[in-house]
Amino acid sequence: MKHPFSSYRKLFPILDNAIQLSSCSQSALSLPVRQAIDDYLDVWVRRGADWGYWMEQVALARAEFARMIHADVDDIAVLGSVSDAASAFASALRFEADRPEIVTTTLDFPSICHVWLAQQPRGAQTRFVPVEAGGTDTTDRVVAAIDGRTALVSVSQACFYDGQLVDIAATGRAARRHGAVQFVDAYQSAGSVAIDVRAQEVDVLASGAQKYLLGIPGIAFLYVRPELARRLVPTVTGWFGRVDPFAFDPARLDFADSATRFSTGTPPMMCASVARASMGLLNEIGIPAIEAYLGQLSALAIEEATRLDLEVASPLEPSAKGANTAIRIANAAQVEARMLQSGYVVSARNDVIRIAPHFYNNADDVVGALRELARLTR
Ligand SMILES: Cc1ncc(COP(=O)(O)O)c(C=O)c1O
Repeated sequence: MKHPFSSYRKLFPILDNAIQLSSCSQSALSLPVRQAIDDYLDVWVRRGADWGYWMEQVALARAEFARMIHADVDDIAVLGSVSDAASAFASALRFEADRPEIVTTTLDFPSICHVWLAQQPRGAQTRFVPVEAGGTDTTDRVVAAIDGRTALVSVSQACFYDGQLVDIAATGRAARRHGAVQFVDAYQSAGSVAIDVRAQEVDVLASGAQKYLLGIPGIAFLYVRPELARRLVPTVTGWFGRVDPFAFDPARLDFADSATRFSTGTPPMMCASVARASMGLLNEIGIPAIEAYLGQLSALAIEEATRLDLEVASPLEPSAKGANTAIRIANAAQVEARMLQSGYVVSARNDVIRIAPHFYNNADDVVGALRELARLTR
């Protein structure tokens, strides 16, 4: 199988010593990201404090994220984590007696579910749609659960556990039909699955930078559709949610006329430098090309795992999953450590080992990891 991005491997020094296949947790460090961190530190050493440079890095990171999801830069807020982004957004919602429900699934990321559950004192009732690992009917199940009592629908576009994909356009349509709003958790999809918030008519979408965005934790991007953002008034806030953060008027609580109103305190500037560089690299290549290639790696992983008699927890149909192929392993955490000794960086969660390649991985990386996994677990 041809590797269309083989020339980029030299940008990822770890590949000289180990095979990193953990993009569902942490992607490999690239030279442009390392340079961005060095530049940030250099500016600090040389100039002490440079708000102009810091704000420029944040603006550039927002612009790269906006470009990636086909949004306007004004429609992106910057926060510290996806959980924070969900909390800031939730703080602006009202849960009425006749429309109290938040619909999510049993395979959504726990932290985001916890944010929804924490809205209970404000009248919210969280309803977990039961879905199965490896399932291909999650979209249908979510759509069927949405009704006139639904205030918010929250789905992971790609699941952290088994990589299964939800059709966010379909769940969003169902939400809209019933007068609800949809929140898309794109942390496991952004950077590896093409997203077009306009074509897919997305209301709200959040992602952090650590996974397929090739960055580090400490920063998250929150897209809110402009007409929706203007209607919502968050109660979780801070100076970067103001019309002019540098107005310094303690008595004036105005809200920026866009998703920026969901920003809170000082943005994570160093993380923004990293995200600017890492998303710049991804946007240069183009997510549709990356997604197509990762689909080929998915098909290969499923085929090889099946041949090796490994139990695949992910959907067996490559188009129903993202880059992550989850293999069921009893003592996954121990096996993760042993894989590392063998030179493979993979990621354990509960009872699965996740093999999650990015564009810099090739077929040998994926096949080699699966064969080593089979050897270690025989
Ligand atoms: C799908 C998904 N959503 C949310 C999170 C949590 O993000 P954060 O730690 O930025 O709140 C994770 C972390 O692994 C995740 O995989």
